[in-house]
Amino acid sequence: AGNEILLAIESTCDETAAAVVTRDGRVLGECIATQEKLHERFGGVVPEIAARAHLERILPVIDTAMTQAGVQGEDLQAIAVADRPGLAGSLLVGVVAAKSLALAWQKPLVAINHLHAHLYACQLSQPSGESVYPAIGLIVSGGHTTLYLCEDPINLQYLGGTIDDAAGEAFDKVAAMLSLGFPGGVEVSRWATRGNAKAYDFPRSKLHDGSFDFSFSGLKTAVRYAIVGPGRQDFSSLELDDSTKADVCASFEAAVVDTLVGKSRKAIRQHGVKRLLIGGGVAANGRLRRDFAAAAEQDGFQLVIAPPELCTDNAVMGAIAWKQIDRGQFATLDLDITPGLQR
Ligand code: KG4
Ligand code: ZN
Repeated sequence: AGNEILLAIESTCDETAAAVVTRDGRVLGECIATQEKLHERFGGVVPEIAARAHLERILPVIDTAMTQAGVQGEDLQAIAVADRPGLAGSLLVGVVAAKSLALAWQKPLVAINHLHAHLYACQLSQPSGESVYPAIGLIVSGGHTTLYLCEDPINLQYLGGTIDDAAGEAFDKVAAMLSLGFPGGVEVSRWATRGNAKAYDFPRSKLHDGSFDFSFSGLKTAVRYAIVGPGRQDFSSLELDDSTKADVCASFEAAVVDTLVGKSRKAIRQHGVKRLLIGGGVAANGRLRRDFAAAAEQDGFQLVIAPPELCTDNAVMGAIAWKQIDRGQFATLDLDITPGLQR
């Protein structure tokens, strides 16, 4: 059983990824083709471009991961693919590839929930393999800002989520306003390190409304007003000095992180769970990691944040498929995509 291996495929958004992972958590082969360059000039992911790029890359990406691992189809225990949630055209490419290979190689198929996988990345960071469940789970990515009560890797209860923009999306939009490039999260956080987080008093929306929901569109508007005033849509000719940019980034980042920390603390308190898992691209953020560590120490809960390389989209977190295999949760060859988020 120690040498059982599976192939995991990820194509939910704009990363084409494949990984060959063993049951005991080793990564034998991995390949990620990012599409950042293709979407950069649009300031966001363009679904049609993403789908086409996945189509061009999916087979070479799978081939690279398999070759790196030194394995062939016949060596696999199963083929796993993220079938939800995500962009329809993007999901379709991964799902069709996985179904075709499952049919050709006569291997079982496993359908992965991409959000569950983002949190499972926390499990993969545990060297001892000790379970990180039950826990409160926070997913902060380009598409999602969601709190779950996680009984185990697969049984998650939705507590709340964003009612407008996702946290990562807000980072990307602020980056666009300041012409910092795409994806903007990394750039905003880099600028933030040189700024004063108290320079602007940006809103911490919904922080005390008693729900586990988030809202970042008001914050985004507040940032816009702070840098150009109301009404203006075109930021291309905007000239801001570096210290203003840094202060805006730092103050914005602090507002996002304060909200995330506040709601997560409340979820932990309310549900009496002593552990918090954080996954998704924004979990790579430095201030987020620092402030959550401080909150964990103060409130006395265990904090497990996915390792930075497993925060953004990847196929290694598809190792969650082993948990589904253990429960006999296989998909059939008529598997379809589920783009929308089901709670
Ligand atoms: O999880 P992910 O790769 O894709 C989705 O499933 O959505 O997350 C991408 C998001 C982008 O919005 C990106 O700007 C943000 O994560 N991000 C960051 C950082 N690194 C990536 N946001 C803040 N700080 C970072 N260091
Ligand atoms: Zn993701």
